[in-house]
Amino acid sequence: MIKIAIDYYPEHWDRSLWEDDVRAMAELGCYAVRVGEFAWSRMEPAEGVYDFGWLDDAVELIARYGMKVILGTPTNCAPLWLYTEHPDTVQCERDGQRTHLGIRGHRCQTSPTFRAYAEKIVRKMAERYAGRPEVLAWQIDNEVESNHCTCPSCQERFQKYCKDKHGTLEQLNRDWGTVVWSGEYSDWSQIECFNTAWVNKSDWFNPAYMLEYERFCSETTAEYVAFQAALIREYDPAATITTNACFGLHVQDFYKEFAPLDVASYDNYPPLEIPEDANEVYSNAFALDMVRGWKNKNFWIMEQLGGPMGCWMPTTRAMEPGMLEGYALQAVAHGADLLSFFRWRTAATGAEMYCFGLLDHDNKPNRRLKELELLQHRLAKIEGLEDTTVEAQVALVFSPDQSYNFANQAQSRGFDYWRQERLFHDTLMGLGVNVDVVSDAEPLDPARHKLVIVPAYAVTSDAFAEKLEAYVRSGGHAVLTARSGAKDANGNCTVGEYLPGKFARMAGCRVLESDAIGEAVQTLRDSNGNVHNIGVWCDLLELDGARAIAEYDQRYYAGMPAACRNAYGEGSCSYVGTIGDKSFHRALLVSELRLAGIDFIENLPAGVESSTRAGGGREYRFFFNNTMKNHTFFYQGKRVTLQPLEVKISTSDGAWL
Ligand code: GAL
Repeated sequence: MIKIAIDYYPEHWDRSLWEDDVRAMAELGCYAVRVGEFAWSRMEPAEGVYDFGWLDDAVELIARYGMKVILGTPTNCAPLWLYTEHPDTVQCERDGQRTHLGIRGHRCQTSPTFRAYAEKIVRKMAERYAGRPEVLAWQIDNEVESNHCTCPSCQERFQKYCKDKHGTLEQLNRDWGTVVWSGEYSDWSQIECFNTAWVNKSDWFNPAYMLEYERFCSETTAEYVAFQAALIREYDPAATITTNACFGLHVQDFYKEFAPLDVASYDNYPPLEIPEDANEVYSNAFALDMVRGWKNKNFWIMEQLGGPMGCWMPTTRAMEPGMLEGYALQAVAHGADLLSFFRWRTAATGAEMYCFGLLDHDNKPNRRLKELELLQHRLAKIEGLEDTTVEAQVALVFSPDQSYNFANQAQSRGFDYWRQERLFHDTLMGLGVNVDVVSDAEPLDPARHKLVIVPAYAVTSDAFAEKLEAYVRSGGHAVLTARSGAKDANGNCTVGEYLPGKFARMAGCRVLESDAIGEAVQTLRDSNGNVHNIGVWCDLLELDGARAIAEYDQRYYAGMPAACRNAYGEGSCSYVGTIGDKSFHRALLVSELRLAGIDFIENLPAGVESSTRAGGGREYRFFFNNTMKNHTFFYQGKRVTLQPLEVKISTSDGAWL
């Protein structure tokens, strides 16, 4: 059965409440309880003085009620004695100054002093708990974000990273094009972490340097997580280890971060307010499919929305009826096998005092707990769901490099790499098509994915271009979009060839010129004569073997191709030189799916998404109404009605669950 767990902070609550809490969780049918991830000051109240008595009691109580624990290493929040006695453990901000204490996540991930103390506390925990039958898994730290600390330790590491990668300063100067503005380095010590002390605009900086810096930040974070995982494995080589990812301000390469871990996990906080504008892309399904892609298998949710988010003032709207269940089942639909709800009790003290958990301050039964109970009953009835997974014939390539690249150089107002990824994903969800969000480092195989979508692939290595070309040549269908091939692997512009550069032959077109139209809205006409809104960017294309599938409708380039498709080898490559609205994406993807021979559902109402889990001879198709309206449609001859946020599941033998 899909497992339900609870995030719990026993150290926040009077002991007299513990047993009632744990009993109630057990009565709800919970499988596990996550504890510990912020409790370092209680585990080591003074240097070298360890107190695990309270945690022992909590673990014992949870086990007594038949549940397991997920133990968080507490390194996100070092105790104040550590920070004040060893200021070099505190991360530095963009201005180079140590951060102010008093919130959380102040630790510098690379500081040797911090690492030494982190190692001690993780070892102490592992010595005590690793390998015990009550321990289901370990969570490393909490929502570790890409390390953007600018302290001397990080600076030194960045210099070493550059030396290891570029070898000599001459090479690095060439790779980054530092001759511009006399930026040539004559000593490794001149290479600094990105520091905005004097200017708050990153696009004044050399983009090749910025790209490298982001890669470095991502790698140090992956190394920090791997360091903790290795410690735990010394005590229990068979431990199940994860870390709870989130998409924060700085996003690292999660594919790399999760490589040494056992299961991907994610903190799932979908929107509490659902936009009415039909053109908004808000579905959370993209994030969920991406999480599954980190390890190419089912995943866990370490924090699942369990109440209104009040900690980040002002407080949010209450959860709509059906929302707790709907969002939970949406996660399951995309491959979640365990959902740990955030959090049991609504905080009463501390920064998150209005961050609602399942239980309100009044400690009385409520609507959310009731809904969780219903969810639990519903899941219990779906036989074999835990033995299924999401099998997709469409891959959406996600590239950390492009994410870094466009965050620094948006190209045009509104040019947002993530939004472009999500537009494709959203459209496929509305067509009932499963999608794998795969790393660009993964092999591409037409036998696995018949269609591969590659939005805005600017920073291009020879290896990726060759891989994509081989995929198409051997029968795959690819979609590339504007800016693809614009840069080399160092992040410098491609010189001496038409874009899409390394992809031009396969795409059968040339970009003659581009118009960064930003927020202006223009139109194009697709090959069926339908008109769609476009924005942000327009490549003016000349065909070189490809066939136009859309033409601009306006301006001096009216009549020029905006998108085209080229038969290449056994497959095809489409190039889309602009960014269309949802209707454009739908028309484009319907024709791509037909070409690739992939089944889809044509009549889902806008905002209803559908995907499947299959395995062991069973298939479950989930329909999720991601809107606040009622919707009705027909599926396999049956009339299906969905309330707002409702999920219905149809099985391969014709039943509805
Ligand atoms: C998460 C975090 C939790 C809690 C939650 C509330 O990002 O991991 O510790 O802060 O948000 O919004």
